[in-house]
Amino acid sequence: MKVLIVASEVFPLVKTGGLADVAGTLPKALIAKGCDARIMLPAYPGIVDKLVDVKQGPNLGDPYGFGEVRLLTGKSPEHSTPYWLVDSPPLFNRPGGPYLNDQGRDHHDNHRRFATLSWAAAMVAQHGKLLGWQPDIVHANDWQAGLIPAYLRTWKQKHPPVVFTIHNLQFTGMFSYQQFLELGLPESEYRLEGMEYYGHFSMLKAAIQYSDAITTVSPTYAQEIQTPGFGCGLDGLLREKSDRLTGILNGVDYSLWSPEEDSLIKARYSAKSFSGKTKNKTALQKQCGLEVSAQKPLFGIVSRLSEQKGLDLVHRLIPSFVEKGAQFVLLGSGDPYFEGEFKALAAQYPDQVSVTVGYDEPYSHLIQAACDFLLVPSRFEPCGLTQLYALRYGTLPIVRATGGLADSVWEGGPDREQTGFVFYHSHVDDLSYAMDRALTLYSNPKLLRQVRQNAMAQDFSWDRSAGEYLGLYGRLMG
Ligand code: ADP
Ligand code: GLC
Repeated sequence: MKVLIVASEVFPLVKTGGLADVAGTLPKALIAKGCDARIMLPAYPGIVDKLVDVKQGPNLGDPYGFGEVRLLTGKSPEHSTPYWLVDSPPLFNRPGGPYLNDQGRDHHDNHRRFATLSWAAAMVAQHGKLLGWQPDIVHANDWQAGLIPAYLRTWKQKHPPVVFTIHNLQFTGMFSYQQFLELGLPESEYRLEGMEYYGHFSMLKAAIQYSDAITTVSPTYAQEIQTPGFGCGLDGLLREKSDRLTGILNGVDYSLWSPEEDSLIKARYSAKSFSGKTKNKTALQKQCGLEVSAQKPLFGIVSRLSEQKGLDLVHRLIPSFVEKGAQFVLLGSGDPYFEGEFKALAAQYPDQVSVTVGYDEPYSHLIQAACDFLLVPSRFEPCGLTQLYALRYGTLPIVRATGGLADSVWEGGPDREQTGFVFYHSHVDDLSYAMDRALTLYSNPKLLRQVRQNAMAQDFSWDRSAGEYLGLYGRLMG
């Protein structure tokens, strides 16, 4: 089966969040199951240098006057996943990140940039035979790839089915009517039953409207987004499409995220002995100037700093938990308001609270290995990957019961052993009570060891998720 996976970020080439981890690993897992999977993303600056075997592919032309679009093909040096890069220098070769310019604002022409990514993928889907490879299935991810089914549908020719995965419904890819008019889509589709979204145009709505199947990244989030509280104004449409909407939980690339093999941490360890975990804790405490103590419970956070992640609750609790003897280490970036607020706390408690603003992949591994608990108190969380990584490192997640957090962490029950701590309301008292339960467990080393072992025994490997995607692709192909 030939599958074209399309995403705006792919680890290890370019990453701002969990989408990159998923888009980097799902193709590997599909290939391991015998699938011919390829991944398409924009040729951002520097990407070509990270690939091997790079070749010029076909020139697709310049249909809407945004710049010539060429395809480049290449392979990852670590594994053989084939990459297709959408090369259009006026759109993609510029300073900044995938979505933001070097001033931290959205690129002014993101509608053109990601319409071009979608258009190129649709061209390969439609005319792949002429290019030497036509997918049986196109798997589009998030709004940046949302126009793929819109182009295919409006071209009105036979084309492969499109699966669209929602990684985060909050990002709707919303643009103006004027911007819509630039993208070569029929004006007749700018309507309520098409791509119009509250007086604007939404690439995410387009995807939901025209895809053959819609998935999201956990079963619970698939239910939540059909309710007004989580639906971002699209819950009605999602309820209408509920027969084609499913939730498939993301997996973990355990070749990158396992304390037994992780080369980015200070000492390796397994569930048999936690002495290596303690060495990581000591190394981290030294590295960030915290009081060095194996006894102090250490809470970690690795996160985008945004309203979604509920970290304002943690911020309010840090002083009282420092009083109770806890330490905190945070790695994150995003909203400057949260960055400033956490930095102020670190200045107030330099021996007990460490805050690093920025993006640091190796340090995120050390935090996972070193901490006793990982805080993920999200208001909503489509899947969440950091809690899955934490489980494997025996770092007990403290999560709010939402989306993929609810589907992956348990605080015990008749048929489930405890792997972490779960609270239900986005309220400071509820989180505080969960953190107190964590401290109680911490004071009982025998029980703590048992719960860590339960957590490390969980299996969230990609094999299962990839199997579910393959089942879906197969059903769509009939
Ligand atoms: P989201 O995609 O909503 O940000 P996820 O939990 O799905 O949340 O994925 C976040 C990914 O980004 C994880 O791989 C996490 O380790 C990583 N990450 C988040 N913030 C940072 C950071 N500041 N530095 C390094 N890695 C980070
Ligand atoms: C999004 C979500 C996150 C999910 C990730 C990968 O960024 O916010 O919950 O884990 O996508 O699917």
